[in-house]
Amino acid sequence: MVKGSNLAAILGGLLFQASRGAAASCCSQLNTQLGGKVHLPESRGYNVSMEGFWTLQAIYETPTCVLVPESAEDVAAAVKTLVGGNCKFSIKGGGHTPFPGAASISDGVQIDMTSIKSVSVDKEKTVASVGAGARWLTVYRYLES
Ligand SMILES: *[C@@H]1O[C@H](CO)[C@@H](O)[C@H](O)[C@H]1NC(C)=O
Repeated sequence: MVKGSNLAAILGGLLFQASRGAAASCCSQLNTQLGGKVHLPESRGYNVSMEGFWTLQAIYETPTCVLVPESAEDVAAAVKTLVGGNCKFSIKGGGHTPFPGAASISDGVQIDMTSIKSVSVDKEKTVASVGAGARWLTVYRYLES
């Protein structure tokens, strides 16, 4: 007979395995779709993303892979795959949110917006468009020039 706490541990373990499997499957699909924009642990691209946090706590999480999209189309394709595969993901903009799990994630995909950082202004409509990976210093400098 399985006691309650053992059952919880077993179920927790199964869910853990399932989420890991889902994330690995999503990373594999994303790699097929978006090729060189997907980075696995130990690779240079993965390391660069993990080193780009404001606090060290963020790196307590270990993403299954890191995706660095280059366009809104890349992000849209990735979100479809992530939702279809029931995968967890995080969005890393500037990487300034200090606690683990905000911009980073374990057993999921970290979407690193570093490459989407353009800033533009429509002067007629007085609207500024800012990429999700833009840092405020870049944005302020652009707007002041
Ligand atoms: C990335 O970091 C890991 C862990 O520190 C290290 O083992 C690996 O060699 C690094 N990869 C590259 C390409 O620098």
